[in-house]
Amino acid sequence: MSALSVKNLWKEYGDQIVLENVSIEIESRAFVALVGPSGCGKSTFLRLLLGQERQTKGEILLDGTPLPKEPGPDRGVVFQRYSVFPHLTVLGNVMLGKELKASRFAARLFGAAKRAVEDEARAMIAAVGLSGSEDKYPAQLSGGMQQRLALAQALIMRPKVLLLDEPFGALDPGIRAEIHTLMKKLWHEAPMTVVMVTHDMREAFTLATRVVAFERPRDRPEEKLRYGATITRDIAIWPPRKAGEASLFRPDRDGPVSSKGQ
Ligand SMILES: Nc1ncnc2c1ncn2[C@@H]1O[C@H](COP(=O)(O)OP(=O)(O)OP(=O)(O)O)[C@@H](O)[C@H]1O
Ligand SMILES: [Mg+2]
Repeated sequence: MSALSVKNLWKEYGDQIVLENVSIEIESRAFVALVGPSGCGKSTFLRLLLGQERQTKGEILLDGTPLPKEPGPDRGVVFQRYSVFPHLTVLGNVMLGKELKASRFAARLFGAAKRAVEDEARAMIAAVGLSGSEDKYPAQLSGGMQQRLALAQALIMRPKVLLLDEPFGALDPGIRAEIHTLMKKLWHEAPMTVVMVTHDMREAFTLATRVVAFERPRDRPEEKLRYGATITRDIAIWPPRKAGEASLFRPDRDGPVSSKGQ
């Protein structure tokens, strides 16, 4: 289970109301795309879901329980850029979350425990198409490869909810199409709910089970600071795709995931 329930959520920064009375029920295993004009509060909404910031009013429940005060391993995140650690190798980046969890202070594991995490990290690196790059540093990877690495880093923690903030925005179209195929496959295989911010409607309709638009409904200049954005449209994809539906990724159509072309 990983259902999100957002009830009458408000977020204000000083005098500025960014989000106004946002309510949405997201079913377990849904893939929700969030679209909306620049500056309307999409990233702010994701930060609230992540627990990185607190709402001014309202509540967010994960499987019926209010979110803990801090981000936790049940929620993973991939930002548009720079979410990997430049001083760690690909393998080190993917292992880090597990190492931190196992030993909060030293971030080191030893012996069999370390080998188990390493095996799991190598499998995850292979799943995102980065086999052979385990010992490289992020600066030696292309943009598409760095985003695959960021996905592997989030997914190894088996998050219930994966939050994606324009994760593929900076990639060129060929690599984007490839990473879309990968994303569908990963979502199909892992029992997680995905909330993804995107500027690209085509991407939204390619990946999501539901497309939700944020807008500031009363967007007059003199009111700009006084009214926040809220959900103005909520579009279920037709034909309806069930969350996590197997047919979403078809190896015959979508092909094997490869890392060529990077
Ligand atoms: N920490 C903060 N302190 C004050 N204001 C903030 C803070 N974070 C965001 N804002 C303001 O909240 C509004 C929404 O910002 P946000 O980054 O959520 O928009 P967005 O929809 O993600 O935009 P974009 O599509 O450009 O990424 C902006 O006006 C921004 O200036
Ligand atoms: Mg943003």
